[in-house]
Amino acid sequence: MAEPAAQTQEPMKSQQKCIAIFALLCCFAVLLALLFSTVDVWGDDEDGITEENCNSQCRIVLVENIPEDLTLSVDGTNHVPLSTGLHSLLDQAKRSVEIVSPVWNLTLWVPKTSWPNSAQQGELLFQRMTQLKSQNVKLKVASSLLGSVELKKLAEHGAEHGYVNMSALTKGGLHSNFWVVDRSHVYIGSGSMDWRSLSKRKELGVIIYNCSCLAIDLHRVFSFYWQLQHRDYIPSIWSKRVTAIYSRDSPAYLLLNHTEATVYVATSPELFCPKHRAMDIDAIQDVIQEAKSFIYISVTDYLPLLIKTTTGSLVSRYWSSIDEMIREAVVLRGVKVRMLISYWKQTNPLTFTFIMSLKSLCLNMANCSLEAKFFSSSEQMDDSQPVLNHNKYMVTDSALYLGNHAWVGSEFAYNAGTGLVIKQKEASRERRSTILDHVKAAFERDWHSHYAKTHHATNKTPDRNKYKHLRQPPVKMFKDK
Ligand SMILES: *[C@@H]1O[C@H](CO)[C@@H](O)[C@H](O)[C@H]1NC(C)=O
Ligand SMILES: *[C@@H]1O[C@H](CO)[C@@H](O)[C@H](O)[C@H]1NC(C)=O
Ligand SMILES: *[C@@H]1O[C@H](CO)[C@@H](O)[C@H](O)[C@H]1NC(C)=O
Ligand SMILES: *[C@@H]1O[C@H](CO)[C@@H](O)[C@H](O)[C@H]1NC(C)=O
Ligand SMILES: *[C@@H]1O[C@H](CO)[C@@H](O)[C@H](O)[C@H]1NC(C)=O
Repeated sequence: MAEPAAQTQEPMKSQQKCIAIFALLCCFAVLLALLFSTVDVWGDDEDGITEENCNSQCRIVLVENIPEDLTLSVDGTNHVPLSTGLHSLLDQAKRSVEIVSPVWNLTLWVPKTSWPNSAQQGELLFQRMTQLKSQNVKLKVASSLLGSVELKKLAEHGAEHGYVNMSALTKGGLHSNFWVVDRSHVYIGSGSMDWRSLSKRKELGVIIYNCSCLAIDLHRVFSFYWQLQHRDYIPSIWSKRVTAIYSRDSPAYLLLNHTEATVYVATSPELFCPKHRAMDIDAIQDVIQEAKSFIYISVTDYLPLLIKTTTGSLVSRYWSSIDEMIREAVVLRGVKVRMLISYWKQTNPLTFTFIMSLKSLCLNMANCSLEAKFFSSSEQMDDSQPVLNHNKYMVTDSALYLGNHAWVGSEFAYNAGTGLVIKQKEASRERRSTILDHVKAAFERDWHSHYAKTHHATNKTPDRNKYKHLRQPPVKMFKDK
């Protein structure tokens, strides 16, 4: 009698075993998924602001740093000094300040007597950052810097530092440059947490206040970096907290100083674009392709090359993405293009070759205009000149693109950057001047200044040795006809 009972127990046992193994496998799979994704447990900084209830009536201000010793007619242009703008953001901060910057060098750790007053602004800003903790404001900094003295000092004053190992992820740097304050106000532009950005270097950016609709999306870019802390791979599954809210096809509809605008955030490199996030290079394409009458570009460097280190030697490849968009706009659509490029010690001599090639497009064509100028301060340029015009933007008749990268292929391919696209229809701009008009005025001021030169009276090309691996182009090619 006992035997049949034992026989029915046997299959039951193995069934239970099966279920147990299956459950274990499930657990294991979930664990694996968690491990390779960024599903995160959110902390105390959740504040209930969503796409549905966010504020879209924003105030936008152009912020610039114009070095004291530059004689630019600043009167006609509407801008606020960058340092004033950043201080005003700290004034507004009630809960959190999130900062991404490629550099942390606001203070000079040397005897003050040996440095000019110009370093003061950085010092002041840094001091205020160390006081945030005592005002119950949380400071979070994402960066790819290791052993930064300033970040260590900020950490001693209660700041959190999220280290992103960029060399493991893309072999580049975290070059994004933006602030998100209380998930309501943002700053984005060329100026970084470098004392030079507040003194000796020309910078341009925007601060947008009371704009949680945009701030929550830029905050997601910040969260993306935060999630990469101490990882040496990019997760394949992303938490919803870091994917994009807006994109080229579904931008944010905002009022910027009472003027309608559509806005979205783009990032680079491609690896750093989680679901729906627009790529920087696509954003640039978007803005160039929609331009009807003019495109004004102001960048530190223009070089359609991908320069890569492979087994110790440098290899360059032609990188056509932006170059071809400009050619198409100029030749096929008759858009007037002006390019203002910095001339400094790291200007690659091939820059002139590629610019000359662009200029030659219009040689025998009616209604074709591509002009290029080089921005530098001294008449006699020398090899030691630090960059003066650090701007990285493009403004057209219908849009503004503000980015963090110089227009060099390798930048977009390896370095993490963030771009902001603002589009405004002409009809809505008739009554008042908008941010597009302000940036255009800033561009024209620089373009017509005596720092912008069409040709070089120099026998030297900057940093020649640095580019030994590249074919040396002929010098002196910008002689006017
Ligand atoms: C900060 O800037 C000074 C002056 O240009 C420079 O000597 C120093 O190396 C920089 N420090 C860092 C950490 O970049
Ligand atoms: C960054 O990643 C590289 C390559 O994986 C590794 O060698 C290095 O130790 C990492 N650095 C830190 C600080 O984790
Ligand atoms: C933002 O909005 C608040 C409340 O509506 C207002 O008090 C403040 O002045 C605004 N800030 C700016 C810079 O417009
Ligand atoms: C060139 O522009 C002028 C004025 O903008 C216009 O009248 C003319 O038709 C254009 N020519 C061509 C070839 O597009
Ligand atoms: C927006 O309004 C602020 C304050 O009223 C002003 O300072 C700023 O210049 C305006 N921006 C634009 C683009 O008109």
